[in-house]
Amino acid sequence: MTELTYHAQIFPGTRQELIDRISQQLRPKRFQHVLRVEQTALELAEPNHVDLERASIAGLVHDYAKQRPDADFIAAIKDYQLNPELLHYGNAIWHGVVGAELIKRELHIYDEDILNAVRHHTTGAVYMTPLEQVVYMADYIEPARDFPGVDEARAITAKNLGAGVAFQAQHTLQYLIANGLPVYPKSLETYNAWVPRYQHHQ
Ligand SMILES: [Fe+2]
Ligand SMILES: [Fe+2]
Repeated sequence: MTELTYHAQIFPGTRQELIDRISQQLRPKRFQHVLRVEQTALELAEPNHVDLERASIAGLVHDYAKQRPDADFIAAIKDYQLNPELLHYGNAIWHGVVGAELIKRELHIYDEDILNAVRHHTTGAVYMTPLEQVVYMADYIEPARDFPGVDEARAITAKNLGAGVAFQAQHTLQYLIANGLPVYPKSLETYNAWVPRYQHHQ
């Protein structure tokens, strides 16, 4: 377990202070998931030349807003003049896109790479920085994840981070369609941007 010391003033406090703020927002099970995502993000960060402090912070905050009531998100969409189309979706989308705005205002984290990693962690995006890719994949393959194909996802991601992103984009879309669930347009854009490009890696 890596316990990083923060130096860069990306979050105005220590790692422990950030953890305390997050643990106040989440039930224990979700909080434990967040700690595992942080550790997985750190493991993926090193070989991919991603800043470890950003990987730690982004991993820790990615689900910060997951357990907020719908009313908080609806108020934030209006107050911060986010795309009103967002009102048609729900917690699954809001906790990333709208959650980033709550993180900015409440935790005073203004690093756009971290905020975009939170915004894009459920849907992916056409353009994702290495940090965004690390968080997207860490959330998918953290050690407690258990779904058919997770070991393949871990192996592919260890070899090539972008191929991992493509694997997740393809399998998420397959899952949504197979179960008759709505597809957020951004998930489809992610599929088109990443999956054909990485076919030769599968
Ligand atoms: Fe999430
Ligand atoms: Fe998560």
